Amino acid sequence: MSAIVLVGAQWGDEGKGKITDYLSARADCVVRYQGGSNAGHTVAVHNEKFMLHLIPSGILYPETLCIVGNGVVVDMEKVLAELQGLQQRGIDTSNLRISLRAPVVMPYHKKIDALEDRSSNIGTTKKGIGPTYADKINRIGFRFCDLVGDREYFATRLKTMVEYKNRIIQEIYHEEGFDYKELMDQLLSQADQLKKYLADTSYLVYSAIRDGKRVIFEGAQGTLLDIDHGTYPYVTSSHPTAGGACVGAGIGPTYINRVLGIAKAYTTRVGEGPFPTELFDETGQQLLKRGAEFGVTTGRQRRCGWLDTVILRYAERINGLTDIAITKLDVLDTFKTIKVCVAYRYKGTLIHEFPEDIKILKECEPEYIELPGWQEDITGITRYEDLPLKARAYLAKIEEITGVKQSIIAVGPKRSQTIVRDLMYM
Ligand code: GDP
Ligand code: IMO
Ligand code: MG
Repeated sequence: MSAIVLVGAQWGDEGKGKITDYLSARADCVVRYQGGSNAGHTVAVHNEKFMLHLIPSGILYPETLCIVGNGVVVDMEKVLAELQGLQQRGIDTSNLRISLRAPVVMPYHKKIDALEDRSSNIGTTKKGIGPTYADKINRIGFRFCDLVGDREYFATRLKTMVEYKNRIIQEIYHEEGFDYKELMDQLLSQADQLKKYLADTSYLVYSAIRDGKRVIFEGAQGTLLDIDHGTYPYVTSSHPTAGGACVGAGIGPTYINRVLGIAKAYTTRVGEGPFPTELFDETGQQLLKRGAEFGVTTGRQRRCGWLDTVILRYAERINGLTDIAITKLDVLDTFKTIKVCVAYRYKGTLIHEFPEDIKILKECEPEYIELPGWQEDITGITRYEDLPLKARAYLAKIEEITGVKQSIIAVGPKRSQTIVRDLMYM
């Protein structure tokens, strides 16, 4: 059995798309289990770049079954555009399956997300993620099975819902609402185009695992954006953490045997919220430039800082990491010295565990150790033994602090720029 959950260990954008694509060469099935089009996963193959939002990063392999699980909120307009974009580039998308249980992101969800975020200032991606999950939990959302099921029942429910959402949009925000008839036609036409992809995906994943196939669960966002375990309220509305894979794909925990955390060799964050190791100086600018740290989904500049091992140890605990992939190590190539945060200082005392209260986190000062940089170009290195001694010392230090072994090291965006130390069960 080989079922691996791939999870972001920081605030997202750790390079999950790249590692998923790399491991997909040996996988039979790749499953997205949460999030939606707020995700932006980059896959660089040869000289081509693919930006994936809703479609799993295994799609570039024609034989790989790609599943959008019930835990993902699906924007039909976006998924249709993404499919078209891939097809135009010659990618076979016939192996995509979308859960009939997946909640559908409605145009009113996106509108409300944009309007609400103006007042709450989380800095969401405005893709309707929060409002769609809120309706799901409130049991007033629409799932794909509703859109392709009894039409009269759907029409009645939609009419009531549009009236309700229009009241919010018009009375609270004084903006224009939606026309129920127009919306209905648009949704049914989109659902019709996606019909051939809809399936009971829990059964497909279960069957793949039971048949001994290799399955990857591709997390979106990251541990610190988890609705329960992240820096609430500056989080997303789903469970990117490993536990989310079971619920969001519809399989039990006994079917998973590996949890691979993806961590950048430094830290970034996009959107608002506390970030203890954030750098506001020239070093931060260098990380931004060398790492090309701009959001895939919104184009926003990412905030940058040194690696924070308090976060990585927390990610190990919350996800039960079996191993870690360190990405973007090459971004540190030019630094004379490199800092690593090993604890926080809060009101004069040292804190070793990640605090639950963001008011405390905001006041935490990072305690750093300093390591010498290797000041060498490592982007062409393909074997761990060939990495400069100082680069290996940096990795060894992180391994020592986190207690998690590093199975993969990425030294550039391309597939070929990947050093594998241990393929584990893949
Ligand atoms: P994801 O959301 O976790 O899939 O990550 P993103 O795609 O949003 O951001 C990661 C960015 O870093 C992308 O532009 C990748 O092409 C790039 N990338 C991934 N791994 C490496 C690496 O090892 N080195 C460098 N320089 N870039 C990388
Ligand atoms: P990937 O999968 C980084 C952030 C947003 C915002 C917060 C809530 O590419 O790693 P939302 O629209 O989800 O309600 O926004 O979460 N965010 C991400 N940050 N990477 C992502 O995805 C993100 N998806 C959402 O910037 O701060
Ligand atoms: Mg991303």
